[in-house]
Amino acid sequence: MTAPAGLAERVQAAAEAAVPADRVAAAPAHLRRMDEAALLAMARTLRTGGLFRGTAAHTAEEVAEATGTAPRHRWILRRWLAALVREGLLEQGADGRYRGLRRVSPAELRAAADGLEEAGRHLDYPAELLGFLRGALGSLPALLRDDLAVQALLFAGGETGAADGAYRDNAVNRYVNAAVAAVALRAAEERAPRPLRVLEIGAGVGGTTADVLAALAGRPVDYLFTDVSRYFLDAGRERFGAVPGVGFAMLDANADPLGGGVPGAGGRDVVVAANVLHNAHDLDRCLRGVRDLLVPGGRLLCVDTVRELYPILTSMQFLMSAPPGGRRPGDGDARAGTDHIFLSRAEWGAALRRTGFAPELEAPEADHPLAAAAVTLFAARRCG
Ligand SMILES: C[S@@+](CC[C@H](N)C(=O)[O-])C[C@H]1O[C@@H](n2cnc3c(N)ncnc32)[C@H](O)[C@@H]1O
Repeated sequence: MTAPAGLAERVQAAAEAAVPADRVAAAPAHLRRMDEAALLAMARTLRTGGLFRGTAAHTAEEVAEATGTAPRHRWILRRWLAALVREGLLEQGADGRYRGLRRVSPAELRAAADGLEEAGRHLDYPAELLGFLRGALGSLPALLRDDLAVQALLFAGGETGAADGAYRDNAVNRYVNAAVAAVALRAAEERAPRPLRVLEIGAGVGGTTADVLAALAGRPVDYLFTDVSRYFLDAGRERFGAVPGVGFAMLDANADPLGGGVPGAGGRDVVVAANVLHNAHDLDRCLRGVRDLLVPGGRLLCVDTVRELYPILTSMQFLMSAPPGGRRPGDGDARAGTDHIFLSRAEWGAALRRTGFAPELEAPEADHPLAAAAVTLFAARRCG
């Protein structure tokens, strides 16, 4: 990676300053407790409908039938089975059948959910986010059957507190968003005195937007806040509409060409895309579209999750199931037919290089304690 002199140090200093050192050091242990709670909840949910009695062995399809898992959520169930095998709570024989599911008592599950909340508090997860994660753990049978939409839990009472907590108000995202803001500030300095031209894809609840705009305060900007959802666009307009230089537009990351029909979408110095690009049907095509929105040397600041987090697999991931007849993330690229959504660090690096970017830096770096949280900034510059 080829960050210009001083940039990596500056990004790291800004990110470290955003999170107390004790939170950082203890993060891997707390994240593990959260993972364990989710794994126990998966195991408890799968012991139903006569499954896993004694030495009984089942195929994934039989587990799906017995749990009443809706067809669109069956990929999640397969991810659970793989996670439980990987973590030693379930066995898979050479015949591909699953057996020997770990027993989990209601008391053990309650204690694990308490542990999840306690661990989350150490990472500054707000109460709304913890309530959402715990609520999802307690609703897994209904979520699998599609009797309950995860949106009803995430936006309980029409509030965005849990989503704000997931993408902004916690130690992990504060670290990563501060890193994004530090690179954006560097880009603005390089561009000065001309205004920095930024386009944000999937800006959503504006967790990253807020930190980037704060870092750029007092500098001239032309910031296009976009999302595929009218709901988030309206909420963004309410929140950021008074900031000079900020505009709003609907933009679908899967549109081809990307930004087609959005006046002024191109010629950008920076494209910010936080927790959204994994939704692309064809990631390479989407990344080429992003490259075309950038000026030569312009930066993509992409935040994404580089491994499957079990508390996400029991909550947010239900949002990624296609509606009946609709498309799933990755169904037009190498992820098709694999149930994989999230790319690893190495896969992101390869995808960026393949699509005309030169990777510049990653934050946190792979050996940092917060890397356990998997949320990672990939800064990359358009080649040529
Ligand atoms: C997980 S949220 C992340 C929100 C925000 N970027 C953050 O990190 O705070 C994903 C956002 O991407 C948007 N989104 C999902 N699919 C999209 C697509 N195909 N094109 C553009 N935005 C999309 C959603 O509406 C949502 O606002």
